[in-house]
Amino acid sequence: MMSSISANLLKKGVISGSDTQFSIANQETCDLVIGLDLGTSCTKVVVQSPYRHSGWSHAIPLGLHVKEIYLIPTQLFYDVLSGKTDIVEFPQAKRFQNLKLRFIDKPNQIVCNLADGHSVCIRDFSICIIANILLKTREWIFANCSDMFRQYKIIWHLNMGIPSSNFQKKYFNLYRAIALAGWNLSTSSNGITLQNASLCHLDECTNSNSSIHPDLVNIIPEVTAEVVNYARSESRNSGLHVIIDVGASTLDVAGFELYERTGKDNYSLIETRVRRLGAYRCHLARLKAMRRRILQGYAVDELFSDPSYRVNQRLEEYLPKIDLVDFNQNFQFYRKVRQCIGNVIKSLHNESDPLAKAWETGLPIFLCGGGQFVDLYQSVLNDIKADWQKNSRRINFKITRLDQKPANFHGDGVEFHRLAVAHGLSFPKEEFGDIWPKPKKRVIEINKNVDDYEHHFIRKEDT
Ligand SMILES: Nc1ncnc2c1ncn2[C@@H]1O[C@H](COP(=O)(O)OP(=O)(O)OP(=O)(O)O)[C@@H](O)[C@H]1O
Ligand SMILES: [Mg+2]
Repeated sequence: MMSSISANLLKKGVISGSDTQFSIANQETCDLVIGLDLGTSCTKVVVQSPYRHSGWSHAIPLGLHVKEIYLIPTQLFYDVLSGKTDIVEFPQAKRFQNLKLRFIDKPNQIVCNLADGHSVCIRDFSICIIANILLKTREWIFANCSDMFRQYKIIWHLNMGIPSSNFQKKYFNLYRAIALAGWNLSTSSNGITLQNASLCHLDECTNSNSSIHPDLVNIIPEVTAEVVNYARSESRNSGLHVIIDVGASTLDVAGFELYERTGKDNYSLIETRVRRLGAYRCHLARLKAMRRRILQGYAVDELFSDPSYRVNQRLEEYLPKIDLVDFNQNFQFYRKVRQCIGNVIKSLHNESDPLAKAWETGLPIFLCGGGQFVDLYQSVLNDIKADWQKNSRRINFKITRLDQKPANFHGDGVEFHRLAVAHGLSFPKEEFGDIWPKPKKRVIEINKNVDDYEHHFIRKEDT
C-alpha cells in the first residue's frame, strides 16, 4: 500500500525522490541540511536552510498518523522474495523492528537469506530504512518547497544522531558508513532493496560520484543536538551542564561543557552514559512489578481453591493496597536510573570537572526526550538533589526542560521536545565545533561525604 503522502506527490507530478536537484542547470547554490534522529521508537527528520530564508526549518511529515505526522515508526517492511523495502506496509511484507538497538548490538548479524541466496544483516536493514526516509524526505522537499529552492543548486548535508556513549571512533565510522550508504542507495536508480544495501561497501560509499560530499555527512551525539537551541539562546550560560535524554528504550546521560561564545558555539562531552532505562522500558518494568505485587498480595491461586474463604464485601477491596512511595523506592528499575544519573554527576564532581563554577552557582540539568514527563525520572532527580544537599549544602541543581520552539521552525501538531534532536541535527556541522570528549582530570581532595552517599543505592550493575 502506497502512503497517502507518496500518492499525492505522484499525482502532482513532482520530481522523483531519488533525484537530488530541482534542475541540474542551476548554478547559484543553497545549502540544505537534513537532520536525522533515528530513535528506538520513532525517527524524526528536520530539514533546514541555514544560510537562506532566515534559517527556515521544517519537520518532514512521513508519520502514519495525522496526529503524529512527524513521528515515523522506526521499522522496515521487506519482501524476502524481491528484497524490496519500504517504511510503509505493502502486500506480503515482513516487518523488521527494534532496529536501532539491534544495530548497536550486532550490526553484522545475519537476519535472513533472500530468495536469490543473498544473506542480509542488520546493517543492511539500517541502510535501507535510512535510504527510504531520505528518498521520501527529498520527495517532500521537491513537492512542497519548490517556491523557496527551485532556482538553486542544492548542496546537501546529512547529520545523523548517535547515542552519546557510542560517540567513539569505532561506532562513529560505522554510523557514518551507513548514513553515506543510505544516501547513495536512496539516489540510485536500482531501487532500495536489501541486496543493493548489502552491495554498498565502505569504499563504494565514499566514491566521488556521490551526490553528497562525504565531508557533509556527519554523526553528532543526540544530546549535543538537543542543546543547540539553548546554546544559541540569550539565556545560555557557559560551563558545565548535564543533559538527561529519556527516550523510549534508552536513558542517555551526559555531562558537557559549553564554552564561551567565540563566533561559534563549542561543546565538549565530558562524561557519558547510555543505559537501556528509557520510558518504554520503565513502563514494562512497572507492569511486571505491579503484577508481582498483586499476585503476592492476593495469593490468587489459594483464593480460588478455598470455597470457605470469607469473600470481600466491596469491589474496591479487590484493588491492591500498594504503598506507592515504597513501591518506587524499592523498585529495581528506579534504583538503576538513580545509579546511572547519580554516577555521572558523581564522576563529574569528583574526577572530571571538580573545579567547575556550576558546583557553586547551581548545576544546570536538562531533562529531555519523549519520556521526560514520566514521574519516575523527575523523582529520581529530586531524590539525588536532596541527597547532595544533605551531604554538601553548597551544591545545588537547576533542573529545567528544553521545550522552547525556535523561531522559523515549522512542525506544528507534535510537541517540540519530540523534534528537538532532529531540529538540532539540522544545523550545519560547523555549528557544533569540536564535540569529541576532552577529559580534563583535575586532582583534588575528594569530599568523602559526598562520595559515599551513592553507595547506598548501588545494588546491582546495570547490564
Ligand atoms: N507525554 C508523554 N508522556 C509520557 N511518555 C511519553 C510522552 N510522549 C512520549 N512519551 C514516551 O516517550 C518515548 C518516546 O520518546 P522519544 O521519541 O524521545 O524516544 P526515541 O527517540 O524513539 O528513543 P531513544 O532516544 O531511546 O532512541 C515513548 O516511550 C513514549 O511512550
Ligand atoms: Mg531519542
